[in-house]
Amino acid sequence: MKSSIKSRIETLMVQVSEANYRYYVLDQPTISDEKYDLIFKELVELESSDPDLADPASPTQKVGGKALDKFSKYRHREPMLSLQNIYSPDELKDFYERWSGIIGTDFTVVGEPKFDGLAIELVYEKGLLTVASTRGDGETGENVTSNVKTIRSVPLKLRGDFPNLLEVRGEIIILKEDFEKINKERAKNNEPLFANPRNAAAGSIRQLDPKITAKRHLDLFCHSVGRVEGANYKTHWELGKLFSKWGLRTHSLKKELSSLSELQDFFSQVEQERDSLPYEIDGVVLKINEIKHQVELGFVARSPRWAVAYKFKAQEGITKLKEVKFQVGRTGVITPVAVLEPVWIGGVEVTSATLHNEIQIRSLGLKLGDTVVVKRAGDVIPNIQSVITAKRTGKEKTIHFPKRCPSCGEDVVSSDEEVAQRCLNMSCIGRLAETLKHFASKRAMNIEGLGDKWIEILLEKKLIHHFSSLYELTPEKLKTLERQGERSAQKLFEAIQKTKHNSLDRFIFGLGIRFVGERTAELLAIHFGELETFLMATKEELLQVEEVGEKVAEAILEFSLDKKNRKEVAQLLANGVCPQPLKAHGGTTLQGKTFVITGTLPSLSRDEAATLIRSHGGKVTGSVSKSTDYLVVGEEAGSKLVKARELGVKELSEVQLKALLS
Ligand code: IVH
Repeated sequence: MKSSIKSRIETLMVQVSEANYRYYVLDQPTISDEKYDLIFKELVELESSDPDLADPASPTQKVGGKALDKFSKYRHREPMLSLQNIYSPDELKDFYERWSGIIGTDFTVVGEPKFDGLAIELVYEKGLLTVASTRGDGETGENVTSNVKTIRSVPLKLRGDFPNLLEVRGEIIILKEDFEKINKERAKNNEPLFANPRNAAAGSIRQLDPKITAKRHLDLFCHSVGRVEGANYKTHWELGKLFSKWGLRTHSLKKELSSLSELQDFFSQVEQERDSLPYEIDGVVLKINEIKHQVELGFVARSPRWAVAYKFKAQEGITKLKEVKFQVGRTGVITPVAVLEPVWIGGVEVTSATLHNEIQIRSLGLKLGDTVVVKRAGDVIPNIQSVITAKRTGKEKTIHFPKRCPSCGEDVVSSDEEVAQRCLNMSCIGRLAETLKHFASKRAMNIEGLGDKWIEILLEKKLIHHFSSLYELTPEKLKTLERQGERSAQKLFEAIQKTKHNSLDRFIFGLGIRFVGERTAELLAIHFGELETFLMATKEELLQVEEVGEKVAEAILEFSLDKKNRKEVAQLLANGVCPQPLKAHGGTTLQGKTFVITGTLPSLSRDEAATLIRSHGGKVTGSVSKSTDYLVVGEEAGSKLVKARELGVKELSEVQLKALLS
């Protein structure tokens, strides 16, 4: 009996490890999430039925073991070094020439992203993960093995022909998306927010309770080694291939380069892709490829001479906090916004920053007049990283959160479940303005020319009071507004009228129902086909829609069962608004096909191309894998194209995509 359980455990261990490897290292999942959960659960159950049978290298160990009192110290066999940083093409040229001066011109370089995460070392002895440690001071770090074991992309056992000893180094990162989620959760629980994804990754690894780490969806990219015994490789590129064979995850955005101009081009290419990556990177790392040349170049102080970090333009700046404004959002949440003395960061003039909520203001210790470090990450709104307290003059003032709504003046209410303070007044003009701005916005109804300012004026002049009244505006009414000539009044009127027959997904998204983003709106529109059916849907019916769970279903019901909302929608319909079913212009031509879009297309935006594909039954994903059927390629396509070519994925131009649809 025991032996049959044992053999079942062994089979399941192989299946789960294989699934992890295919998912994380090869990026080619072969079993569904449901199937994975099923075999994983069975393995956990069998192992817990008899502790003798639990293998320490079992992938189930990833759920997190016992909590610790503190971390023990771990001395690295080889010091963990740092990289020299450069910031400009001139510095790169100097570096390149220094290399050629020592090793001649017969060398190649590997370019990789510089991950902005937490440096980690994993020690594999005879293929088994024995220790995972942080960098610490480079000589001694902290033993964080039980936490690192919870990361799904970290194998507990190496595959294939692994070396006797392998110290692999890499970066633990957290997805930008997960970082936002964690901060939201922390805000809810009155905990200080993490300033950036790197801190969130570090904070998650330094959790004494591995079960908390296990919930954080951390990820690992391997990029270098410490001591290795029993492996042969002549180049860094070959080492990367061995990593994959051993089951260790590397990044696909890496390239072999053979001239100074290729190095500079690689930097520019990665810089362009930076914002579209799901995690933070802060530059590229350029490494001499040939190990013999690496040895020849050796080390200087605490850095290898064979590698360099070429960093992106500073995304941080220092400025002063002039004022904090409070804004009311669509849902009534009051948000503080920092008004800053203008500062240039990464080529953009920054004049304001988000402050999330009162907790963040308190955890930063922020005061009016403070000198602050501001960070801009991609296209997201800049945020305040820290306060430079040394610059205080004593004249700084405490920031007070308003007791009344900055827009309508009603008392604000804070509930126990969330930190947010809210205005509960349904007819608050500030809330209404935000609701209408969202409705008219580009990604929702896309009413051309109806910008934020116009909405505020129209509300103030009482020409509109909700969605439906937008469609009661006439050129005559619009003409009464200041600085609104006859022609522009007519133009705005036409722009509004034109949106009466927008597609249903845009309309649903425009309603601003909590948790219903563009993608959910689209899935709802496809599923229900017509507005009435959607608004009459029961909870059970809503839960049948892909990606709709309890929380979303309840938010939709809260909207659709509300009498005022029903009246408003009825009025919209009475005013001639008639959202078009997505299927009408679509079809099922692309059913079962998966697309990825990259680069700039000649006439469609990426969003438009994605909608077009989805409305014809196709699926659009963010990254290229074996399961991608087509890559839609525009100008300046980057690593996705490289990956697609590696995998032999079919490429389509915009014209070819359109041809496919017809
Ligand atoms: S190679 C001498 N490759 O950057 C170290 N490091 O300043 C050789 N890092 O703490 C490391 N991305 O953890 C290398 N693609 C990459 C990297 C990378 C991020 C980190 C590394 C180290 C720091 C060096």
